[in-house]
Amino acid sequence: IPRKLAPTPPMGWSSWNKFDEHIDDATVRAMADAMVSTGLRDAGYTYINIDDGWQGKRDASGVLQPNAKFPDMKALTDYVHSRGLKIGIYSSQGPRTCAGYEGSYGHVKQDAQTFANWGFDYLKYDLCSGEWFYADADTVKRSYYEMGAALQATGREFIYSLCEYGRFDVGSWGRDVGGQLWRTTGDITDDYPTMARIGFEKNGNPRWAGPHGWNDPDMLEVGNGGMSADEYRTHMTLWAMSAAPLMMGHDLRETSAETLAMLTNRRVIAVDQDPRGIQGKAVRKTEAMEVWAKPLADGRVALALFNRGDAPGSLSLTAADAGLSGISEVEDQWSGKTRLSLPASYTVPARGAVMIVVRG
Ligand code: DGJ
Repeated sequence: IPRKLAPTPPMGWSSWNKFDEHIDDATVRAMADAMVSTGLRDAGYTYINIDDGWQGKRDASGVLQPNAKFPDMKALTDYVHSRGLKIGIYSSQGPRTCAGYEGSYGHVKQDAQTFANWGFDYLKYDLCSGEWFYADADTVKRSYYEMGAALQATGREFIYSLCEYGRFDVGSWGRDVGGQLWRTTGDITDDYPTMARIGFEKNGNPRWAGPHGWNDPDMLEVGNGGMSADEYRTHMTLWAMSAAPLMMGHDLRETSAETLAMLTNRRVIAVDQDPRGIQGKAVRKTEAMEVWAKPLADGRVALALFNRGDAPGSLSLTAADAGLSGISEVEDQWSGKTRLSLPASYTVPARGAVMIVVRG
């Protein structure tokens, strides 16, 4: 299926991490407003995505209706579009979604057309409920293909997000069913151990990532309060080095200055959004530290130094870490400071990260 969407990893916001199923029209509009007023939109965050919990019942012809919390979907998508943003919706392939709402089973084409009629630009398609989670590979692939084909048959452009937890090596077939991103893992939660396990170990095979198709280690928890500033910096650094989709998951109205600075750092975003689309990976590990490299489109190389230990640690970075024979310029992505050579060593706080871009 030829698609040209998502040349770089999608960026935006999703309701799930903060609001769970307790999402409504007014909150979605408020998020669109906050996306604009905070400057997050102008930093590149484009999608406002409604996750599970919007669905009502089907009408007599089987057309899915929103529940009472969403009185007019077309008016809502118009509003979000009027703010210079795009808007996403959610469904699941089983008869029920994970939160127990109406799923698309038996109504795939009809639902795709409904989402198009309402004016949505993005669909996250879950793998629920019950026995559907345990369906065999062929059933799961066929079902993702059916929705991918149905979305394309509407003639409207949809980003298609496959939420099937990385099962059946989804990266190897995600593009074939029309997907632009596919989850690599179960759900993230707002704590360092879960985030780190996903970011370091369950972020997907880099060979499947590239323009128009991305491994998705799940949405961001930055700003939700469960991690320290150093831990959130590690979260952002891991996601940027991994060319992961950047879907914020906090209440945008409550973005502190510190959180905003982290989410809008244009140098960090540029590494995530680099047009070459290479997913970075670990090139060297010590007992507590990991060095990651991500080659960029302009020939420079992003390097990250992660301290996975519980005490501060120091390590030297080298040109060899970047696959280069020498270094002529070093830019610190978090601070913006530049220098002409690598320092003797970097000291990294416990559970913290350093991120630089080097020129050969
Ligand atoms: C499971 C997904 O992994 C979550 O991101 C969220 O979409 C929930 N389902 C919704 O029920």
